[in-house]
Amino acid sequence: MSETIRLTIDQQTVEVPAGSTILQAAQQAGIQIPTICYHDHCTANGLCRICGVEVEGTRTLQPACVVQVRDGMVIHTRSERVIRSRRTILEMLASSVDLSESPEIQAMIQEYSSDLYRFPDAEARRPTVIDDNPMYIRDYAKCILCWRCVQVCAEDAQYTYAINFSGRGYETQISTFYEIPMPESTCVFCGQCVGVCPTGALKPKRQWLLEMGYSPDEIMSLTRSQRQRRKRREEISANPS
Ligand code: SF4
Ligand code: FES
Repeated sequence: MSETIRLTIDQQTVEVPAGSTILQAAQQAGIQIPTICYHDHCTANGLCRICGVEVEGTRTLQPACVVQVRDGMVIHTRSERVIRSRRTILEMLASSVDLSESPEIQAMIQEYSSDLYRFPDAEARRPTVIDDNPMYIRDYAKCILCWRCVQVCAEDAQYTYAINFSGRGYETQISTFYEIPMPESTCVFCGQCVGVCPTGALKPKRQWLLEMGYSPDEIMSLTRSQRQRRKRREEISANPS
C-alpha cells in the first residue's frame, strides 16, 4: 500500500499519496493554483513561478507544480505575499512579451489586478516572425519561454530534438541548432509544439495567413509554392552539379 501524506492547505486538511506535488494535492482539495508553464502532459520544470505558494518554515515561495508534499506541511496558496508575487510576475511578462493571444494569462492579469504599465522602461522583445516552412510560423515576440515546445519535441513526446533554448538572459529564445531554417533541422513537422504552445507564438501557417486576410485559394498557392521551393532546394542539394 502506498504511503499517505497528510498536510494542510489553506486551513484544509488534505491526504494524498506520497510523491504528489503541492499542485496535485491542492487540486484534490478543490483549491485552484494558477499555472502557466505547467502542462498536464509535459515534464514540469518550474520555470514561470506563477504557481508559487507559501510553505510555513521555508524562506522562499515554493513552485507548486514541482515541489512534492511532505507530512505536516502547512501551505498558503493565497497569502498577501503569494498574491504580490503573482501580480509582479504577470506585470513583468506583460512588459516584455506580446500577450495579445494568451487569454488565460490575460484572465490572470485581471484576477490579480496587475498593472500593465508598472515597468514603463522595460524593453519588450519584438523579434520578427520566422516564416521558413509551409506548416507553422514562429512569432517569438509572443513567447514566454515556457519550454513546453522543447519538451514535446524531446523526451515528452517526439524524441526529435529540433529546438532548444539559445542565447542568455534577455537574448534567450527558442531556436534550432545554429538557428538554421526549420526544414533543415531534425523537425518532422508533427505539430506537437504548436499544440502545446499557450501564447500563439507557434501557429499553423494557414491560420496565420487567414488572420492576415488571405483567401483559402491564395493560402493554398502560397503554401504549395513554398513546398515546391523546398523540393527544388532538396533536389539541388542532392545533385549539386
Ligand atoms: S514557443 Fe510557445 S511553447 Fe515554446 S517556449 Fe515559447 S510560449 Fe512556450
Ligand atoms: S506553473 Fe509552476 S513554475 Fe510555471
